Amino acid sequence: MKASEIRRSFLDFFKSKGHTIVPSASVAPLDDPTLLFTNAGMNQFKNIFIGLEEPKNRRVADTQKCIRVSGKHNDLEDVGFDTFHHTFFEMLGNWSFGDYYKKEAIEFAWELLTEVWKLPKERLFVTVFRTDDEAAGLWIELTDIAPERVMRFDEKDNFWEMGATGPCGPCSEIHFDTGDLTSQAQVFDDPVEGVNGENARFIELWNLVFIKYNREKNGALTPLKEKHVDTGMGFERVVAVIQNKNSNYDTDIFTPLIDAIARLSGIAYSENGMAHRVIADHVRALTFSIADGAIPSNEGRGYVMRRLLRRAARFGRNLGLQEPFIYKLTSILVETMGDVFPEIVERAQYISQVIKSEEESFNHTLDRGLDVFAKIISKLEESASTEISGEDAFRLYDTFGFPLDLTELMAKEKNLKVDVAGFDKAMEQQRERARRAGKFAIAITQDPEEWDALSAGHHSHFIGYESLAIDTEIRRIRQEKDMVYLTLSETPFYAESGGQTGDRGIIEGLGFQIDVMDTQKMGSHIVHIGRLAGEFPRKAKVKASVDVARRLSTARNHTTTHLLHKALRDTLGRHVSQAGSLVEPDRLRFDVTHFQKIEPEQLEEIEGKVNEQIQKNLPV
Ligand code: GLY
Repeated sequence: MKASEIRRSFLDFFKSKGHTIVPSASVAPLDDPTLLFTNAGMNQFKNIFIGLEEPKNRRVADTQKCIRVSGKHNDLEDVGFDTFHHTFFEMLGNWSFGDYYKKEAIEFAWELLTEVWKLPKERLFVTVFRTDDEAAGLWIELTDIAPERVMRFDEKDNFWEMGATGPCGPCSEIHFDTGDLTSQAQVFDDPVEGVNGENARFIELWNLVFIKYNREKNGALTPLKEKHVDTGMGFERVVAVIQNKNSNYDTDIFTPLIDAIARLSGIAYSENGMAHRVIADHVRALTFSIADGAIPSNEGRGYVMRRLLRRAARFGRNLGLQEPFIYKLTSILVETMGDVFPEIVERAQYISQVIKSEEESFNHTLDRGLDVFAKIISKLEESASTEISGEDAFRLYDTFGFPLDLTELMAKEKNLKVDVAGFDKAMEQQRERARRAGKFAIAITQDPEEWDALSAGHHSHFIGYESLAIDTEIRRIRQEKDMVYLTLSETPFYAESGGQTGDRGIIEGLGFQIDVMDTQKMGSHIVHIGRLAGEFPRKAKVKASVDVARRLSTARNHTTTHLLHKALRDTLGRHVSQAGSLVEPDRLRFDVTHFQKIEPEQLEEIEGKVNEQIQKNLPV
């Protein structure tokens, strides 16, 4: 059976048992602050379980897009190393909301696995919670599983919880013995050692959760008014089992991606092909999360996506892929999964654009970062040390954009460790510097020792809309390492704000010149940040000149964001809103929210409207 047929047969089976088939919820839920990503099929039904919402149907089934990369359910560290964990996967599930309970859940599962899909019973094992005599008894009574194959485990394996809080309950899992299917097969005299034994031979296929509690914030378990069933089966795993494959990556879910990676890189996939696996896995997580409205960024959900993208990009380098390539793989997902998940078809172009621009931006620093990493490694080898220092890991992070987990992964490949505590310390020190900088005004008034006051009077008066070069005075100045920070009485320098980058330029006085590299607002102060050439300034008088061409280009791009915003709204509708923007002298980026791909004709129309306004040369 093809993967698509297996998915269909699951849904058809539960339809025949009175279940309503519902669509997958978004993988990037916007309305549940306890979750970065949807990590289980039951997430969208959480409020029904805890009695806050009435179900429309008491029996439902679906395939749910899940991402497990953070929090209680995090599979990231296994991805690529083994062949059956994924960051993104589909979870097939059936639910009973206060309708059937353990008996039917067990009967349905056994019937589907052994009668419809005809999995060999001698390869199946089930587990129940250590005190769940009822479930253990039902398995033996209702099915023809051999009684010794019903095993008991404790909370770690057989009490399922959504997260730190939320619906939960004892569960019963069905495991499959891949036996000699897998080349990594381990030999166990007694399957009890293999099931739940963290090995590649016995894999968990399906989890039947008997939801009856809510885990409260204070850790207490509150019994729910009704009892529910929540099941989750890893689609990619069951497909591998049914298709008789060693690895999920050998099923037709992944082969089109793996083949494309092999084609692009010219390197065939083999069992050792961790790079192919990681890339194939991560592009799925990226594609589906972007389709559902998430965007790579520097925090929260967005940073998880950035980490995934950067890992995939680095594995691409292992395969000799120098140019952006991940975005090219998204069209394969559109072809192979678009019928089940139409959102990736609707937003296909947007998804590939977001990925491409992320790849381009990481590409700027990736190669230099890899060189630095190689130097760090050879230094360690010389000193026979086995740990990358926290400062080095932080430098890779801060200067070259290497997420800590990427550095850890690369270290692991060399049998090295990373000093994570040292990294955290370096990060905290940087935050502290940023905090101190943020309290700049207070630092000046409260601790004048740190600052040289070269003159007195009002400060930071912005006159940069009228003049771009003026004679003015330094009020206060401070030197830290090789940077100087200074405030002026009047300044033509625009401080970064509203996504518009701060001005650069020159501040010069008797015997010195400061190359201003950035201008930032800190409290009521406009702080010029730059490098000093010459003597440390002792006299206040200076000439301050903004890099005019740069400022004008930036200002033009800033104005264009407003024109673009208006044209987007006029063309696509009033719902379009700004999700972020970046304005620099040579480019602008404008993030918008819109429910589907912007068609090429619409883009042309938008572009036309913006150009029309520009050509009017209106006063701003
Ligand atoms: N909610 C069942 C599972 O995620 O395994």
